[in-house]
Order: sequence, then structure tokens, then C-alpha cells
Amino acid sequence: MKFTYYGHSTFSLENSGQILLFDPFISPNPMAKDIHVKDLKVDILCVSHGHGDHIADATTIISHNKEITVIANPEIVGWLQKKESNAEYKGMNHGGTINFKGGSIKMVNAIHSSSLPDGSYGGNPSGFVITLGSKTVFYAGDTALTYDHKLIAEMYQVDCAILPIGDNYTMGIKEAILCAQFVGTKKVIGVHYDTFPAITIDKNLASNSFKEAGVTLLLPSIGESIEL
Ligand code: NI
Ligand code: MN
Repeated sequence: MKFTYYGHSTFSLENSGQILLFDPFISPNPMAKDIHVKDLKVDILCVSHGHGDHIADATTIISHNKEITVIANPEIVGWLQKKESNAEYKGMNHGGTINFKGGSIKMVNAIHSSSLPDGSYGGNPSGFVITLGSKTVFYAGDTALTYDHKLIAEMYQVDCAILPIGDNYTMGIKEAILCAQFVGTKKVIGVHYDTFPAITIDKNLASNSFKEAGVTLLLPSIGESIEL
């Protein structure tokens, strides 16, 4: 499975030519100015919650990808569908699993909020457990650390966790290390940091803290791909 980072909490997972994109926030992010939203090829778009820093480029991506499937909670699906009807929309909620050719995605709890950019109700915020080919990845979305993360280890063998580490709006470094232990993985990709002043981190301190706990923290640069 190939992971590619597009800044903030935007990333893709690719397996056997199938591309899943998560939480598109590229065009408003000056740090991602070299990424061209309209050029991104996407088969399945997943949105964890309604906040602008996770959904800003969703309609652009939907309109530039024929035969795209959109996965999010029913409130977000309904909101996007009104703006861009030309896609296959799959609404789901916490606890549900959607199987697709080549893998599956399960929606799990996140402790956060979820209003949409125009103030509409965005349903409950979520995370995802994604199985693609032989690998399983946990993407926490925007969330505090919660004991619910322990349930994931009871159901899945998680190869890698994609966790917010910027603090302020989500968990920070300390909780992300615990979260990795809760979900039972030794490999974390950090997201949701450095985009705004409130979520600026010391990357060396973060890496060292993870190392001391026996967990590897990967911080790919924007545009960089990692084979998981
Ligand atoms: Ni958020
Ligand atoms: Mn966010």
C-alpha cells in the first residue's frame, strides 16, 4: 500500500491502482501550493468530518473524477450531493463497514465536532479503519485520545496509524503515542500539524518522544510517498 501526503490531514492510500483520498484541504493551504487538486486521480474520496480543513477541495475532486465514490457520514454526503451530484455517494455511520473491490473501510468514533463550512449540521466526526490488499491502516481523523481506540486492536491487526499530532484541536504528541499503543501499532504517520500557528510542533521533540516509547513516527514532506 502506498501512502502519499498532501499536507495537513490530506493523504492518499493506493493499492493495485486503486486510489483512496482522505480529507482534501489543498488549495487553501499555502504549504501545499505545488499540489494541483484538479490533477489528482481519485477512486474513493473519504471525509472524516465537516470542518473546512477536511472538506475544502471535496467538490473540486468530485467534479474532476468520473466514477468517483464518496464515503462520509449521511449529513456530509447529503451536503456534498447537493453541490455535486455526479458521484456514487455512500453514507455510513460509526460501527459500519463498507466493502469494495480490493478492501474495506470501517467508520469509528472520534471525539471532536463536525459543523460544515456554511454552518450546516455535519453529523458526528469519525475516524476510519482501512484495509487494502494485505495491509490495515487506522486514520483517527480529528480526535482526542479515547478508550474507544483500544477496541480497534481487538478487531484488527493495524500496520500503521495516521494520527493528528498538532494538539490544540486534537490529541497532541503524548496522546498520539498512547493511541498507537491502544491500537497496537509501532508505526505512526503524523498529520494535522504545522498548518496553523495553534498546531505548530517541534518535529525533533516529537520524533524523540515517539522513539523513547518504541514507536516510529514518520513525518513525510508534502508530495512524498511512503510504501507501507
Ligand atoms: Ni476538525
Ligand atoms: Mn481539522
